[in-house]
Amino acid sequence: MTAESRTGRPWHPYTQHATAAPPPLVESARGSFLHLADGRRIFDAISSWWVNLHGHAEPRIAAAISAQARRLEQVIFAGFTHEPAERLASRLVAVAPKGLERAFFSDDGSTAVEVAVKMALACRPAGERRSVIAALDCAYHGDTFGAMSVSARGPFTAPYARLLFDVERLPFPEADGGGTLEAFERLLKDSPGRVAALIVEPLVLGAGGMKMYGAAVLRGLRELCRRHGVLFIADEVMTGFGRTGTLFACDQAGVSPDIMCLSKGVTGGFLPLGVTLASAEVFAGFHSLDRGRAFFHGHSYTANPLACAAALANLDIFEQEPVFERIAAVARAHESGLKRLAGRPGIAAARRLGTIAAVEFDARDSGYLSDVGPRLYDFYLSRGVLLRPLGNVVYLMPPYCSTAEDIAAAYDAVEDSRALLAARP
Ligand SMILES: Cc1ncc(COP(=O)(O)O)c(C=O)c1O
Repeated sequence: MTAESRTGRPWHPYTQHATAAPPPLVESARGSFLHLADGRRIFDAISSWWVNLHGHAEPRIAAAISAQARRLEQVIFAGFTHEPAERLASRLVAVAPKGLERAFFSDDGSTAVEVAVKMALACRPAGERRSVIAALDCAYHGDTFGAMSVSARGPFTAPYARLLFDVERLPFPEADGGGTLEAFERLLKDSPGRVAALIVEPLVLGAGGMKMYGAAVLRGLRELCRRHGVLFIADEVMTGFGRTGTLFACDQAGVSPDIMCLSKGVTGGFLPLGVTLASAEVFAGFHSLDRGRAFFHGHSYTANPLACAAALANLDIFEQEPVFERIAAVARAHESGLKRLAGRPGIAAARRLGTIAAVEFDARDSGYLSDVGPRLYDFYLSRGVLLRPLGNVVYLMPPYCSTAEDIAAAYDAVEDSRALLAARP
């Protein structure tokens, strides 16, 4: 029996255990680096699945969690409240786009999306209920059933295809996004009163391939929602907390959603937490003397005080430290890396928004399951860089404390990996 087939071992996410090498053991992490048991230091160029913001083991967040653990580690959130959740709700509402007034807590990005979709479907009076959600092609919103339903169909969702609810799919905004806006307007005019909500990843579609589109399209979609009485859900699970260069991607477009989903960076990447922010109007849909109109959703760890304390410390760091200067420095380091790659053989396209950069390789098979991804992944790891290509798209999204030298070394690895692809039979 190989070590991998032994029982009593973890089952890793998004991992084909029959073909994957045994995963390296991470002993500790600090700043932008993971420290492996075999002595290697790995630059975490994807912020550990897009969660880490200010570096691993950031001392202020670590201290806040530790202090909170000695005061109140967890308590039921139905019928009780606590100070970290009260403060976090009010501070998130203060920094979020105007009009978002209530914070509903859950566990992660997928549950933040489930909550958003359920709120959007149930907030209207029974007689007026609209039942359709619209979403973008190539979208990824999570792995639970509602989140899968609003995500693009593909290898992740294939085994469940018949069980997912249908959504109205809009084309990804290419060029000026006119086609997307026209398709949405046509849908709204052709079937008035049917669409309850549009859900979008604002400005960057993450797992769909770090596909980027302009702020004007986001504004256009928002405006169409407003005109047609459709709720606008911004899934800022990945884009939130500075990734795109502004605190939220919606800020760049001057857009205020009716519902906004947060997770990942909300705790600085320390603890799982989902937050769904909702407008007063959405909240009012459940506010009634009829107990049966309550929002019947909740998780055992809703508003976990440790996660809330981490999130408050994260907001303190944004308020008190030059985080946006660090973000600008990461963006500059990307620019010089991308300049080096532009137009080079093997590179089909490159793009950047804020701290997110993506390089598209020429590849015969560009799908998520193409064999390009694992080959590149192994190569980067051998160069001391954690990068997880999405098919033929290699993206870099490092923590904000990363230095220009660390980022340049990651681009060296990306540049050199072209030879690896060129050498393919
Ligand atoms: C935009 C977006 N929404 C939702 C999710 C799901 O988040 P989680 O993996 O925390 O469930 C992700 C995860 O990558 C995401 O990128």
